[in-house]
Formats: sequence, structure tokens, C-alpha cells
Amino acid sequence: MATRRRPLVRLLLSVLAVVGVLCCGGVAAGAWAFTRSGTDTVGEVDFVRPLAVPPLAPSRIDGQGRRVFDLLARDGRRDFRGDGRMTRTAGFDGDYLGPTLRAKRGEQVAVNVVNRLGEETSVHWHGMHLPARMDGGPHQMVRPGATWSPTWTVNQPAATLWYHPHVHGKTEEHVYRGLAGMFILDDDREAALPLPRDYGVDDVPVIVQDRAFSRSGQFTKTRNSISSIGVLGDTLLVNGTVGPYLDVRTERVRLRLLNASTARIYEFGLSDGRPFDMIASDGGLLPRTARLNQVRLSPGERAEIVVTVRPGERVTLRSTGPDLEAGALADRFAGGRDRFDVLQLRAAGALAPAPEVPAELVPSDRLAPATAAVTRRLEFQGRGVNGRSMRMDRIDFAATRDTTEVWEVENTDGTPHNFHVHDVQFQVLSVDGAAPPPELGGWKDTVYLAPDRPVRIALRFTDHSDPNVPYMYHCHLLWHEDNGMMGQFVVVEPGQAPGRPPTGHAGHD
Ligand code: C2O
Ligand code: CU
Repeated sequence: MATRRRPLVRLLLSVLAVVGVLCCGGVAAGAWAFTRSGTDTVGEVDFVRPLAVPPLAPSRIDGQGRRVFDLLARDGRRDFRGDGRMTRTAGFDGDYLGPTLRAKRGEQVAVNVVNRLGEETSVHWHGMHLPARMDGGPHQMVRPGATWSPTWTVNQPAATLWYHPHVHGKTEEHVYRGLAGMFILDDDREAALPLPRDYGVDDVPVIVQDRAFSRSGQFTKTRNSISSIGVLGDTLLVNGTVGPYLDVRTERVRLRLLNASTARIYEFGLSDGRPFDMIASDGGLLPRTARLNQVRLSPGERAEIVVTVRPGERVTLRSTGPDLEAGALADRFAGGRDRFDVLQLRAAGALAPAPEVPAELVPSDRLAPATAAVTRRLEFQGRGVNGRSMRMDRIDFAATRDTTEVWEVENTDGTPHNFHVHDVQFQVLSVDGAAPPPELGGWKDTVYLAPDRPVRIALRFTDHSDPNVPYMYHCHLLWHEDNGMMGQFVVVEPGQAPGRPPTGHAGHD
């Protein structure tokens, strides 16, 4: 069944593409498809606004020694383009996006999430290893006016994580309005390396999102129905800034790239093609620095890169048409040909020296797939995984605590997808049978799934178990996730049977 549908999807894509081309003079849909497929802002962006840097969230240490943050979700309004048109938005502690939370390995953190939106939401800690009931997924909904206070101990390496709502069926909408932020973890190992780490100066969050605006300035959700990938906007916001530049005063600058777009896949590089040093992926530092010219990031993925600049120059972070490995037509309608100027780096005439990026970063501790307790196959296709759409009351499988598993994840419907799993960081064993490229050589929680190229990963479930409260795995193209391309698993003690997901809300009024 699964493999039979794929050629049909492709045939449909080609027919629609031809129709789109033939009708582009007259039929709106055709013209729309024709122009939408060719978004190209390279050379067109006036970099007139300083890049907004999300403030570091204030925190305090409470009587129990916990680092406590407050995060308030609310509606907002913002004039993104400086033309007086106010866009209705949402944000944490502000109009759009949220502050950067920051904590150190070993610390116990607590976050008081206050929901001042007119509707229920949740806040999921993407990439965080934590108990399922603290995860902020669709089982931890926070009612309007309520406060939810999850707490956990940070027990994972230094990394660039993020947070965003995870409302079943509405994640795309909440993230699109602006509810997202970065969560940086620190540890001693990272701190001992000669890397740029002055937040907002030479260590800068770069949260990339595409948006489409209506004539009155509202975010529009025009979906590309041909590719069924989701919303593809023609305007980039970086940390909420349209047309951003960053003044660089050091020889090297560390950019924490986060693709917080709902559907768009980017291929980041520099305008003159110079290489950069990629030092970290989703779950933290790579074993070795990877010298790359480009890095592809699908929604939810992160890469920390260090860019070396020369005095007085201007160089632009750019996204060229990402290689979606999905065939020319799917590429065309899924943004595979779109190009964007993302962020201009403006180097000062005199730059403070910065040490070379070390070649070796952290010892690689590879999981042992040979010891895997279970091998699972997850097929992403249509509106589900393994032929089933997400159901809140169904636990799809249970993993046992302190075991390693191998999952073979495959996209079998010809449309771009990706794969994200909660609670753990995984290691990529192979992509379509081949050893992973260097950028996939470290800890990951999200990985692109090109059609028909199975990705084998190893995961180890440690510390937390709960037979009743599930973690999610899903496509992080949020429209797909909302439409059911998601499943639930629990982590149980050896011999323990999975239970039933609780109903109700998290938090208190
Ligand atoms: Cu970033 Cu399940 O989510
Ligand atoms: Cu998908």
C-alpha cells in the first residue's frame, strides 16, 4: 500500500505542474503556483535593521536551589516592515518570539508558564531530556489564565534547544503567530573550549522564519496545495527582524542557527561561498568541527556555525535552493528552488582577535546499535506514521528504560518530511545505507527525511520513565504534524506494561 501511492503522488505533481505552467497567464492558481515556486530575495534585501537579539530571560534561585524562570504567553502587535501596518502576533514576554532561557548542566530548572492568550496552549522544550509530564506536549495543555510550572534537572550536554507550543492540531498556528524561543544549555566541557560565547556579541541566536503578509499586514497562511508541504512565505524574519544586519566586532562570530519555520527547509551558506566551521548540531557539540560551505536545516533543526570575517567587509548569510532530494517537481513546489538573503554580517574596520576553532570538540561516545533491544520501522506517509494518524488516547509503543533501540525511519510518499523525537537525542547510523555526513555526526533530535532514503538512528532511553504519559515523535513540518503525522510512545521500567494517557490539563488557575 505504502509504496503504491508514491508514483501516483508524483504523477499528480507533474500534471499539476504542467497545468500550472500552461495556465499561468489566466488561471490564478496556476499563476500563483508559478510565482510562488520562484521566491528569490538574493540581492533584493535592504539590510536596514539591526538584528534583534532575544534578551536573556531573567531567572532567580528559589529556596530549593532551583533556577526559576517566568514565561508569559500573550497576544501582541508588531510593525515588522516599518510601514505602519501592524501585524497581529503572539509572543512570550513580548509581542513576538520569546526571551532566551539559559541554564547549566546539573541545574534544576523550573519555568512558570503563564497563559495570557485567549485560548489554551502548551510549551514544549524541544530537544530537552526530561520527564514526560514536564515535556509540554499535547498532554500538558495550559488553559487561558492558568499557570503551568514544570521542573526538571538538566542532564545533557551544552546545546542550542528551543521552546514552542505543541497544541494538537494547532501547533502550526501558534508557532506561526510567533510563539517560540531559544533555550541554551551550558556545560563545563563546552566552556573549556576556545569558542565565541559572549551572548549577543560574538555568540548570536539566528532564529529564521518565513512569513507571508496580507495587504493589511497580517500573517497569511497560504498553503502550497501542490506540494502539500505547508505554508511557504516570501519574507524572512530573523529573530523577528526583517532585513537584518549584525555588526561584528570580532574575527569570529558564532551563529546559533535555528530553523523555526513551520515548513520551509533552508540550505545556509555565505554569499561568497566561503566555508564556515560547524561546531554543533541539535543536541550539542559535534565530535569534530566540520568545515562546510552549506548546511541544510529542516524545520526544528539547529546548527551552530562559526564564521570568520575580515576587517571592514560585508558578507551575507544566505539560503540557496535546498536540495530536497525529492525530484525536480516536488523541489519546485516545496521551496527547493527558493533563495533568500538572510542576514548581513558587517565587520568592523578593526576586529578583536579570536582563537582558531579547535578541530576536536568533544569525545564521541557512540551508542552501540549492535546491543539494540528492538529495531523499529517508522514509515512517514500520507497523514500518518505506519498508516496510522495520531491519536491522543493511543500509545503506539513502549521503550524500556536503559535500553538502546534502532529506528529505521523512512519517508515513502514523495513529499518532503522530517523526523523529530522527544526526550532523547539520537545518533544517525546511516542515511540511505551510507555513513552520515559530518553535520549529522553528532547528537540530533530532528533529521530531514528525503523521499525513499531511509534514515537509521540509534536512541537510548535513560533516567525517566512513566507508563502513562507519552512522548511524541512526528514530522516537524507543522502542518503535517497537525494533520496527524505524529505518534506517541512511553518509556517504561523493565517488564512494565504501558498504561493510558491521562486526560485533562496541566497547571492551575
Ligand atoms: Cu519541536 Cu514535538 O516538537
Ligand atoms: Cu511531513
